[in-house]
Amino acid sequence: MSHDTTRLNRERNHFAGHEAIWLFGYGSLIWKAGFPYLERRPAHIHGWVRRFWQGSHDHRGTQAAPGRVATLVREPEAVCHGMAYRITPEVLAPLDVREKNGYLREVTTLCFDDELGGSTQGLVYLAGADNAAYLGEAPLDAIAEQIAASHGPSGPNRDYLVNLAAALRELEVEDEHVFALAARLPPAD
Ligand code: BEZ
Repeated sequence: MSHDTTRLNRERNHFAGHEAIWLFGYGSLIWKAGFPYLERRPAHIHGWVRRFWQGSHDHRGTQAAPGRVATLVREPEAVCHGMAYRITPEVLAPLDVREKNGYLREVTTLCFDDELGGSTQGLVYLAGADNAAYLGEAPLDAIAEQIAASHGPSGPNRDYLVNLAAALRELEVEDEHVFALAARLPPAD
């Protein structure tokens, strides 16, 4: 699959005709939505873990020196916590462009973590192992080193990781992978 998933996502109209759609965020969306939303609620999805296995050539790295950002990897017993946003459908087109580097819209069941609880069907952007920007598993030290060294148009790759770790702590979410990577970053210059 090519890097640019914008056109593919435009055809993935899972909630056509709906006035509002729930979108589950597990990476940058937790700490920086960057789009208007109707409502925001902490939530989780089942069967996925967050991993820094996706290459970033357009935001947190370059073509020559890609950074690493989060995607989700299947793990049947796992739970991934993040933030759900209720959005109007017009929000998706710019998001498709912003997240065009291999991420595809998928339907998921999301469960709310707040006192109201409940669950609903929504969307999540997933970058699978078959996309051209996928980097896959590597030792934690190597991933942290790559993140520490990478910069792109959206800024230092380390900021993405540090902001994500802080947002997860704020949500009181335990994420061993993210916290282990953050702990391995050398001090900032
Ligand atoms: C997220 O934060 O959920 C997200 C990550 C990558 C692409 C789109 C959304």
